[in-house]
Amino acid sequence: MMDYDGFDEEERVIGRSKQFDDRDEKNLRPITFEEYSGQKKVKENLSIFIKAAKKRGEALDHVLLYGPPGLGKTTLAGIIASEMGVGMHITTGPSIEKAGDLAAILTNLNENEVLFIDEIHRLNKNVEEVLYPAMEDYCLDLMIGKGPSARSVRLDLPHFTLVGATTRAGMLSAPLRDRFGMIHRLELYEPDDLKEILRRDAGLLQIDINDDGLSNIACRSRGTPRIAIRLLKRMRDFAVHLDKDVIDKEVSDYGLNALDIDSIGLDAVDRRILTTIADVFRGGPVGLETLAACTGEDPVTIEDVYEPFLLQNGFLAKTPRGRVLTLRAFEHLGLTVPPKFLEKTGSVFENISIDSLTEKDG
Ligand SMILES: Nc1ncnc2c1ncn2[C@@H]1O[C@H](COP(=O)(O)OP(=O)(O)OP(=O)(O)O)[C@@H](O)[C@H]1O
Ligand SMILES: [Mg+2]
Repeated sequence: MMDYDGFDEEERVIGRSKQFDDRDEKNLRPITFEEYSGQKKVKENLSIFIKAAKKRGEALDHVLLYGPPGLGKTTLAGIIASEMGVGMHITTGPSIEKAGDLAAILTNLNENEVLFIDEIHRLNKNVEEVLYPAMEDYCLDLMIGKGPSARSVRLDLPHFTLVGATTRAGMLSAPLRDRFGMIHRLELYEPDDLKEILRRDAGLLQIDINDDGLSNIACRSRGTPRIAIRLLKRMRDFAVHLDKDVIDKEVSDYGLNALDIDSIGLDAVDRRILTTIADVFRGGPVGLETLAACTGEDPVTIEDVYEPFLLQNGFLAKTPRGRVLTLRAFEHLGLTVPPKFLEKTGSVFENISIDSLTEKDG
């Protein structure tokens, strides 16, 4: 779909989903906890569990990683396998079509290995049922024969670790979610963590960038490493364009402005979502479907890609009656607050904890 600014949705520099430009992503992927910046709590816990499992010589318990796109779930799955010192098999939920496909994958695993299933919320129901006994008892239940002579046999599987990744933990069925020993939610990154990631990647990509340049990109990447890395590569192009050897404040300001990314990292689509709520719905509340129709975006994209950052930064609030703009959003957009807005939404904001405003499940 074309944006009004002429960008193909898939080509938005700030989009969180994977793009052609990210094709060398795997070369930048850290393979140890040391190289993996931020997500301190998740890292700390995981490394304790990994050490303990290694000491016992057992497979690590199953891990579910969830959070918005581009925050490092796939990367973390690889780190888990390499820190465990075992191999990793990679597959995705939608690509496992039949129960037999999964059975084949499972029987081919070696002892203690990691099976990584990306987009695990898109597993098909009968495939999921094969996974339950496999996760719980490391076995497969197979039906042999048909009709009255059919019988079921149990097949032992190697002990393995299932690492599941999803952007939508709310869409996972309860029985599947309950079978994970650990559930980790990845958070948007702080600018300092992004700076560290950018410094490392600039080194690997041999891009010259100074501290001001790093800070500028880090603060305007929506807390997302994938976006930060993409912007770094674009800034390298702007440096060439401006005939400069180093990405500094001037180059990065020029480049980020040229890409229509504002001082806090909002791009044209973010601003369109916010201004639509402000202008058309007088600040909200507005339902997701209606908002999607009015902005010409896909509801799932709004929920997975745009909202987490807007919610976390207090531009938007999720209420039982729909999305509501905050005063901060009006201020940032330079718009005046409609007279009836506070009257209308004042009660909406009461009784809502910050957690429920930022929770993006479901
Ligand atoms: N904590 C981190 N430290 C260093 N680099 C990171 C970190 N997190 C992510 N990256 C980098 O960001 C890029 C995207 O990460 P990754 O592919 O793991 O995200 P993801 O959560 O799996 O996204 P998706 O939901 O789209 O699959 C990778 O190139 C990786 O190198
Ligand atoms: Mg991934």
